[in-house]
Amino acid sequence: MQAGLKTLAVLHASQLVTLSGPQRPRVGAELCNLSIIPDGGMLIRAGAIVATGPSGVIEKQLSSNTKVVDATGRVVLPGFVDAHAHPVFAGSRVDEFEMRARGATYEEIAAGGGGIRSTVRKTRAATEDQLLAEATKHAEWFIRCGTTTVEAKSGYGLSVEDEIKILQVVRRLNKETAIEFVPTFLGAHAIPEDFQSAPNRYVDLIINEMLPRVVDEQLAEFCDAFCERGYFVVEASRKILSAARERGLGIRMHADQLTNGGGAELAAELGAVTADHLEQTEASGIAAMKRAGVQPVLLPGSVYALGKTRYPHAREMIEAGLAVVIATDFNPGSSPTPSMQMILSLAATQMKMTPAEAVTAATINAAYSLKRGDKIGSLEAGKLATFVLYDCEDYRELAYWFGMPKTHSVYVRGERINW
Ligand code: NIG
Ligand code: FE
Repeated sequence: MQAGLKTLAVLHASQLVTLSGPQRPRVGAELCNLSIIPDGGMLIRAGAIVATGPSGVIEKQLSSNTKVVDATGRVVLPGFVDAHAHPVFAGSRVDEFEMRARGATYEEIAAGGGGIRSTVRKTRAATEDQLLAEATKHAEWFIRCGTTTVEAKSGYGLSVEDEIKILQVVRRLNKETAIEFVPTFLGAHAIPEDFQSAPNRYVDLIINEMLPRVVDEQLAEFCDAFCERGYFVVEASRKILSAARERGLGIRMHADQLTNGGGAELAAELGAVTADHLEQTEASGIAAMKRAGVQPVLLPGSVYALGKTRYPHAREMIEAGLAVVIATDFNPGSSPTPSMQMILSLAATQMKMTPAEAVTAATINAAYSLKRGDKIGSLEAGKLATFVLYDCEDYRELAYWFGMPKTHSVYVRGERINW
């Protein structure tokens, strides 16, 4: 062991859930293979994983200055990777939550001036520092849930300056919190009130003014659009996302959430990295995604929280060979949860994914969908030592016990994170 470099060893995990396997997203039966090491150990140096194996083997590699974390009675997993989230916004929509409990629908509330636009009003009124303070609180929630990488969409600004403000907050979050946030530009989240009578002018504003600023200032890696009736129809989404692609951004899409408008097919046509939601997607959309290698990102939390019953066809997607991802869709309207454990539960009970499939979809497959599969999403030599200990002995318990976080401790690049 080289002297002077900080080393850490995790020993005696009841299950070290490594997810080691092929260096690509997992498909079909591969989703079930978590490469679990019972009584597992892991050696870490300078924030990276050096070795994993049975504790007895890892123990032989310890030096006198190795700090040992005893994981007896606990499972250890890679930090969850949340590949679809809207973590920067002001306020809440608890009033709309009550309206839905009283029978109103998400669509009715939006048509009445609420929904995304009500969060836009509050987010525009907030300063960058106020937004940062709220988003820092959200970051802490993610950590408490065992999530260490989070995609961060803009989309509650809908003006040049307010969209830039949100993406600047994401940049600051990356410096000031332990989470890695992956920025996505979502200027095409809704038509703002001031452009209601001329939606095409808003599409032009996105393409001609927002995108150039976002790209010049290197504020986003991906571009997204809410492809939906009343928001951005296929033609408008195609125009915006093609322009983003030409400027070098990867493409993600909100597709087929409320109606089937051909969103999955458009994602395939554009060579999108992901198509997300897909509650209304049928066989032709699934086949198109397969042909184009698009990863579906399924968001059962939004179906649940909106009180709907139609979940995406996860089984058909797995059987078609798609590299399925699951994510929280954390946002104040349709999915107010940062909890990947809750999403694992919904994946199992509502989409009939096995706990193993769900864990793969929330870690290694999600990491590939954010172009980070080489660094995170599994516990393998050479990858970042970003992992979580949970208070349970079997990984399936993460999906089974619901409504209570089982997180014991979180490590990012070999350092324990306090909350
Ligand atoms: O993914 N569908 C569009 N966007 C979010 C909802 C945003 C909101 O209601 O504030 C979603 O569900
Ligand atoms: Fe979303």
